[in-house]
Amino acid sequence: MKFTIISGSPKGEGSVTLQYLLYIQKHFPQYEYEIFHVGKKIKSIEANQDKFDAIIDSVKSSDAVFWITPVFYFLIPAQLKRFIELIHERGAAESFQGKYATAVSTSIKFFDTTAHNYLHAVCDDLKMKYVGFNSLDMWDIFTLSKRDQFLLFAKNFFSIIEKKEPVSSQYLPLPENGLKKYSPEKSAQKIDNSNKNIVVLTDEYKQETNLGKMINRFSDSFTQDIQIVEINKINIKGGCLSCIQCGYDNNCIYKDEFTDFWKSTMKNADIIIFAGEIRDRYLSSQFKMVFDRSFFMNHTPFLTEKQMGFIISGPLSQIANLKHLFSAYVECQNSNFLDFVTDEYDDSEKIDNLLQSMADHAVTYSDQKYVRPHTFYKEGGMKIFRDDVYGRLRFICQADHRWYRDNGIYATFPQRNKFTKSRNRKLMFLTRFKFIREKLYKRINKEMLKPIHKIAVDPDK
Ligand SMILES: Cc1cc2nc3c(=O)[nH]c(=O)nc-3n(C[C@H](O)[C@H](O)[C@H](O)COP(=O)(O)O)c2cc1C
Repeated sequence: MKFTIISGSPKGEGSVTLQYLLYIQKHFPQYEYEIFHVGKKIKSIEANQDKFDAIIDSVKSSDAVFWITPVFYFLIPAQLKRFIELIHERGAAESFQGKYATAVSTSIKFFDTTAHNYLHAVCDDLKMKYVGFNSLDMWDIFTLSKRDQFLLFAKNFFSIIEKKEPVSSQYLPLPENGLKKYSPEKSAQKIDNSNKNIVVLTDEYKQETNLGKMINRFSDSFTQDIQIVEINKINIKGGCLSCIQCGYDNNCIYKDEFTDFWKSTMKNADIIIFAGEIRDRYLSSQFKMVFDRSFFMNHTPFLTEKQMGFIISGPLSQIANLKHLFSAYVECQNSNFLDFVTDEYDDSEKIDNLLQSMADHAVTYSDQKYVRPHTFYKEGGMKIFRDDVYGRLRFICQADHRWYRDNGIYATFPQRNKFTKSRNRKLMFLTRFKFIREKLYKRINKEMLKPIHKIAVDPDK
């Protein structure tokens, strides 16, 4: 059997994820593997049709494709995302049809799920036979049991292909060109934004498109001009290279305009609206590049206490994964999620009203400093970051460590809570005795509720 390996890491041969593939190759030498470092070479693949065709030819002559990639910002790197766009733009999708596929990622397991959901949907869109994924921690290779499990994953994948087993597809195709033309009306009631710094970040600002019109209608809701920033007007030399030089002091090795833009325009905004068109199952790779490049701030929430919303052209309601991903992004920044306004409605007036409401809420909530309580996304995500920055990543991510230490992130370690520790010690001891234990467990719900109820009904609180 032959396999095409599409590697998304910008590090090319220096990729951690690639090592896992090499491990498979070592244990299954009977097969042929052709590796393409798409993440590293995307610029030349895009510029040189022969290089692109060589990958497609390899796919055509293969039994299956391995997508191997690091997780970058809830997804895959912008460079690999660009390659997926090229497949569609250059009419090469058919070459993937019917091929078996799997995905292998390495990460610290922060939103590896959304990255894998995305790749699964991409494979379903390409009509591939997607078998499943393997999400690895960067350092799993050091553990024998994990290596064994990984080899079983590969063995099972090969067996499914050999037996030509059927696989289920999970994602329905997205509707094509189903969107109505949006015809906005002027805003009748302008919102005073004189004391607000509002930024709309977009990759496509064309007046005649639905997206352009939605941006304009949002902007028209306000008394004063807002800032509309087009990504392609900022000098950004390329995608994140994953060199991790920023880990020490948040300085990016690129000498272009991106970090200044992020630290000034984005950081100083009170309200940020991300506006883009759906491209495959995400926004454009250009948008992805912006998120990837913001990694120079590593694992610290940087765009904090802002109001954030999304104006999106395309079938967002059918891409639940993307909605999770963006809501999680907002939460992880310690900001407030406003809304997703899309052009999926037949009724232009409804879109007008939604944009007007989002503008109104953005200003009101910004005045109130309202941030919706976070959910599992940030709760779980920050615990992964806290543990890794305190532990194994500390010497690499020293800027994070200083920030976590100075901003009380380590104070959230449960073992640092003296009250809980002493209460646990006492109650753990007492519950060793059956009669106390039985009494205590009978009263536990009531006792737990008491202080909560007290505040709930206290007229002074
Ligand atoms: C720009 C950037 C974004 C990242 N985003 C995530 C993320 O969202 N979740 C995660 O668990 N790890 C994230 N990581 C860590 C990488 O996934 C991890 O280091 C991976 O093992 C690198 O694999 P590679 O050496 O094959 O490129 C990110 C790293 C970089 C440089």
